[in-house]
Amino acid sequence: MAKIYSAISSKGGAGKTTLVTLIAGEYALRGKRVLLVDADGRLNLSGWWKLCHNKGNVPENISVAIAATRRAIESEIARLQHAFDLIIIDAPGVDSTVQETIIRSSDVVLSPIQPGIKEIEAAGQAAASVSDINDKSGSSIVHLNIRTRITVPGRNLEAYRYVRPFVADLRQAGYQTALLDTELFERNIYREIQNGLGTLQMQDLSDPVRKARLEVQALVEEIEIRSTADGRGAAA
Ligand SMILES: Nc1ncnc2c1ncn2[C@@H]1O[C@H](COP(=O)(O)OP(=O)(O)OP(=O)(O)O)[C@@H](O)[C@H]1O
Ligand SMILES: [Mg+2]
Repeated sequence: MAKIYSAISSKGGAGKTTLVTLIAGEYALRGKRVLLVDADGRLNLSGWWKLCHNKGNVPENISVAIAATRRAIESEIARLQHAFDLIIIDAPGVDSTVQETIIRSSDVVLSPIQPGIKEIEAAGQAAASVSDINDKSGSSIVHLNIRTRITVPGRNLEAYRYVRPFVADLRQAGYQTALLDTELFERNIYREIQNGLGTLQMQDLSDPVRKARLEVQALVEEIEIRSTADGRGAAA
């Protein structure tokens, strides 16, 4: 049965769809059968998918389904969970009722955090929602925060420096959440692939692509470690 990941942040433009396509490409390269579920009514993810088809850049081992209502999400998962190794759900960037359904369906919830106060707060909300659901239903959904769109000068920003203590405070408050050490940098290639170029992993191995690939590989490896029982207690 498929493992289910989702990207959750009610801050629009936080980096959910980008994160989803990057890790999907990496898992697909590793031979996993990946289903991407576009649960955002604005259909950014399926728009990328359509462009990939139009341009003949269809990734192997990846399929895309659209399901933007609670019922559609539940029925697509029930219908397809045996046909895939991994299902990754791209959530909308607004507070919506589908968010709870998506979290409930997930094994691992990923929240991208750009160095901005709104993005940090939205990740805190996601941590709270995951912990509430875990408390109420006795589940053990893992919540992981991932810094994205990072630049070297941006590491001096107050908002950047606030991320780690913010997540530490959430843990102190009892929320089950963690901050990944791996960060996604601000990279042109992450934007360019959205234009129907397929996945990052399909691009010619130029120097920028090689660096991006290493970053995404490290991210996937850290997600795998942190989403197991042993990794969960690791430092915030
Ligand atoms: N690490 C990154 N490097 C460069 N550009 C990025 C990065 N992450 C996201 N972006 C760009 O930022 C914009 C918003 O990202 P994205 O669409 O992934 O966010 P989202 O959370 O899915 O947004 P929405 O809430 O609207 O669905 C896009 O133009 C995307 O290309
Ligand atoms: Mg999106």
